[in-house]
Amino acid sequence: MKFLSSLNMHQLKHIRSYSSATQNFRAILQTQLDDIKAAGTFKTERVITSAQKSQINVDGIPKKVINFCANNYLGLSANEDIKNYSKEMVDKYGHGLSSVRFICGTQNIHKELEAKISQFHQREDAILYAACFDANAGIFEVILTPEDAVFSDELNHASIIDGLRLCKAQKQRYSHRNMHDLEEKLKASDARVKLIVTDGVFSMDGNIAPLPEIVNLAKKYNAITFVDDCHATGFFGKTGRGTEEYYDMMGSVDIINSTLGKALGGAMGGYTCGPKEVIQLLRQKSRPYLFSNSLSPAIVGVGIKVLDMLLAPNDLIGNLQKNTRRFRDGMTKAGFTISGEDHPISPVMLGDAKLAQDISNELLNYGIYVIGFSFPVVPKGKARIRVQISAAHTEEEIDQAINAFVEVGRKFNVIK
Ligand SMILES: Cc1ncc(COP(=O)(O)O)c(C=O)c1O
Repeated sequence: MKFLSSLNMHQLKHIRSYSSATQNFRAILQTQLDDIKAAGTFKTERVITSAQKSQINVDGIPKKVINFCANNYLGLSANEDIKNYSKEMVDKYGHGLSSVRFICGTQNIHKELEAKISQFHQREDAILYAACFDANAGIFEVILTPEDAVFSDELNHASIIDGLRLCKAQKQRYSHRNMHDLEEKLKASDARVKLIVTDGVFSMDGNIAPLPEIVNLAKKYNAITFVDDCHATGFFGKTGRGTEEYYDMMGSVDIINSTLGKALGGAMGGYTCGPKEVIQLLRQKSRPYLFSNSLSPAIVGVGIKVLDMLLAPNDLIGNLQKNTRRFRDGMTKAGFTISGEDHPISPVMLGDAKLAQDISNELLNYGIYVIGFSFPVVPKGKARIRVQISAAHTEEEIDQAINAFVEVGRKFNVIK
């Protein structure tokens, strides 16, 4: 099947001819594209022709492949109950709101979801955004001024980095998970408000922020804490409450940002939850909230449904933990090095960029869909295949992946 992503030059000629300024501009951009290609970092997109499930159809590949690279941690992206509920919500509340929240874009379900998020995270209040990228982009400039200081882990997500660029607070970047560096920086600061900012789980390594130490340092130096828990909410910790719960320290972080676009249904949507003054001020001043459309009813309704599922006894988290252990143990026994701890993000460390690329391509021939990551997405010499486990995988699918890794790993002399 062919996919038309843009008009070809012949079609464009009938639309308009380009001025010399436009041609010059296009040439400038083309140079950048050529540079990216020359650096070997040009990204192409594989086209999936089925729903997002553990087994998917990929354009150009004759047989279904097992998907090990979605953030579909709980397997809800195409779950039957979720799909049916989503349809019910469209029937009842429509497809979209055609409005930002404060004009005519707030339905009862938006308020209900915000209350449910607060209940789930045990926080005073919550505010929805179109994505967690927006929640991260929209928070820091609202809550911090030049009198304040922010201390951010150097490997925090791009959206945190962008959000911090927009804010006028004093900025300090501490080495990744390095508590000595963080303490030195906190000690040297006499800012009015000190905010420590970290991802709960870092997505490239599947490693976890040292939250107990961060919270202790916050107490010692009179700071407050912010955690982006996108790769933890809904599935990490005993009942899926995220990084705080993993460390058995619920309620100890001041502000949590997270997403509906991964475990919680996988469509899109993000939020901030925390003290009511923070949420109230965001509703007044946060630009991605004020000036961007309200979340669609299907997404909002599904958000409520998923949180209800998680607030009741369920098998989802247990299945995910079982699958994660099965993959990590099987791969480690086979001689592979898996980065991170206890987390469904299970990066198979290979070192060399070409090796990671070649092995992931070869695995596709075995029906295993995984992606190799190399510089600049991860440090030079630390190329890897990032495997992500889902509650939707069966034990057979996990074993199939391990067996394929073993065969391909031997072929490429990675294991004996
Ligand atoms: C740590 C982290 N923060 C924020 C985001 C952005 O989330 P969203 O997809 O809801 O914009 C992501 C998504 O990749 C993420 O991994």
